[in-house]
Amino acid sequence: MDKLLIEGGRPLEGTVRISGAKNAALPAMAAALLTSDRVELDNVPRVRDIITMGRLLAHMGAVVETPEIPPTSMIFQAETLNGAEAPYELVKTMRASILTLGPLVARCGHARVSLPGGCAIGARPVDLHLKALEQMGAVIGMSHGYVEATAPGGGRLPGGRVYFDKITVTGTENILMAAVLAKGETIIENAAREPEITDLADLLIKMGADIQGSGTSTIRVQGKEKLHGAKHTIIPDRIEAGTFLVAGAITNGQLKLTDCAPEHLTSVIAKLRETGADIREAGPGTLVVRGGKKLVAADVCTEEYPGFATDMQAQFMALATQAEGTSTITETIFENRFLHASEMIRMGANISIDGRRAVVHGPTALSGTNVIASDLRASASLVLAALVAQGETVIDRVYHIDRGYERIEEKLAAVGARIRRV
Ligand code: EPZ
Repeated sequence: MDKLLIEGGRPLEGTVRISGAKNAALPAMAAALLTSDRVELDNVPRVRDIITMGRLLAHMGAVVETPEIPPTSMIFQAETLNGAEAPYELVKTMRASILTLGPLVARCGHARVSLPGGCAIGARPVDLHLKALEQMGAVIGMSHGYVEATAPGGGRLPGGRVYFDKITVTGTENILMAAVLAKGETIIENAAREPEITDLADLLIKMGADIQGSGTSTIRVQGKEKLHGAKHTIIPDRIEAGTFLVAGAITNGQLKLTDCAPEHLTSVIAKLRETGADIREAGPGTLVVRGGKKLVAADVCTEEYPGFATDMQAQFMALATQAEGTSTITETIFENRFLHASEMIRMGANISIDGRRAVVHGPTALSGTNVIASDLRASASLVLAALVAQGETVIDRVYHIDRGYERIEEKLAAVGARIRRV
C-alpha cells in the first residue's frame, strides 16, 4: 500500500495544469450506455475511479478504449450490452457505479445494480434515486443486496414528474439519463445545480437529447427514441483547482492554475479571499493565488452548489489551522465528514468537533508525523497540512487520494514541494 512522504515548510511556486473533473467524467462515461454509437470524451482525468468505471462498462459489454494520444481521451461504444448488471465486486470499490442504473433502465428496460455500501463520510443511501425512478414509472425491487429496476413491461420508461426531497448530485444525474430515452416528458424538481450536471446535460444534448433548465432547480426533458454518438470535452475539476488554491495560500507561495474554470469556484474563491489569500484571474481558465498576507480566520458552512462545496471542507480546515483567530466549519451535507480533524490534531492543530460543527483555533504550528487517510478529500487535506508542517509527514492509504487526484505528487513536486511516493 503506497504512502506519501512530505517534508513541509517550503512555499509552492510555479504553474499547475488542472485536470478534467472526475465527477463530470463518471456520469459522462455512464451516458455512453444510452447509445449504440461511439462516444468520445476528452480531458478525462487518469484517476482510479475512472479506471473502475471503465472496467464496469466493459463488464457490461461496452468497448472501452484509452488511446495513448491524446493522453486524456477515452472512447466508448456500447453497441450491444451483455447484461444490464453492475456486480458487487466492482460497485463496492466505487459508489458512483450507481450512475449506471438510470442509463441501463432507459436503454434496456431493466437494470440490476449492486447497492453501494456506505463509506467513511456517511451512510450515503440511494433511496432518492429509487424513489425518483418510481416516479418515472419504474418498478423497483431489492434482492440479495441488489436493486432491480424495470420499466413497465420491460419496455420504455413513461417519464413523469420527479421531485427530490433532498438535493442529490448523482440522483439528479441518474434521472436525467433515464429521462432522455423515456416515452414522454420528465420534469425534475429540486434538481442539483452543480456544474457537473450541466456538463452531463451538454453531452446528452450533443447526443440528441432534448433538455431545458440544466444548472437550475427544475429540469425539463422530452424523451427521445434513440440517441446518437458524440464527442465531448469534460469540464475542469473545480475541487482539484480549489485544493491547489489552498496549497498556494497555506504555503505562502505563488501558484498559477491553468485549464481551470474560475466561474465554478465563486464561493470557494470568495471564502479564501476572506481569509486573506490573494486570488486573481489571469486570463481565460487561469487563476493565480499568492500567500503573503497574514491568514485570518473565517467561518464556512457547506451547501449545495453554488454554495461552498462540501468537497472543499477538509481542505479549508487545513487552511484554518494556519489562520489567526477562530474559524467555525459547519458540514451540512454529510453526517461524518470530519475524519481528517483527528489526524490534524495529532499534527498539532487545535480543533474541537461538536456534531456537524468544527471549531478551529489558529494559527498553530503543525509538526510532521504518521497519519492515515480515510477518504478522498480528507487525504487531500492531510497533504495540505503536511506541506506546512515542520518536518516529515508520512500519509498512509494514499489509494484514497489516487481516486480523485491525477499524479498529485508529480504536480506538487513540480512547484517545489518535497514529496515522494513510497
Ligand atoms: C456527489 O456524491 C459527489 N460524487 C461527491 O463527491 C460530493 O461530495 C457530493 O455529490 C455532494 O456534492 C460524485 O459526483 C461521483 P449526494 P453524491 O447524493 O451524489 C444524501 C468526492 O469527493 N442522499 O448529492 O453521492 C446523502 O447521504 C465525492 O468526489 C440521500 O439521503 O452525493 C448526502 O447526505 C465525495 N439519499 C446528501 O444527500 C439519496 O438517495 C447529498 O448527497 C442520495 C443522497
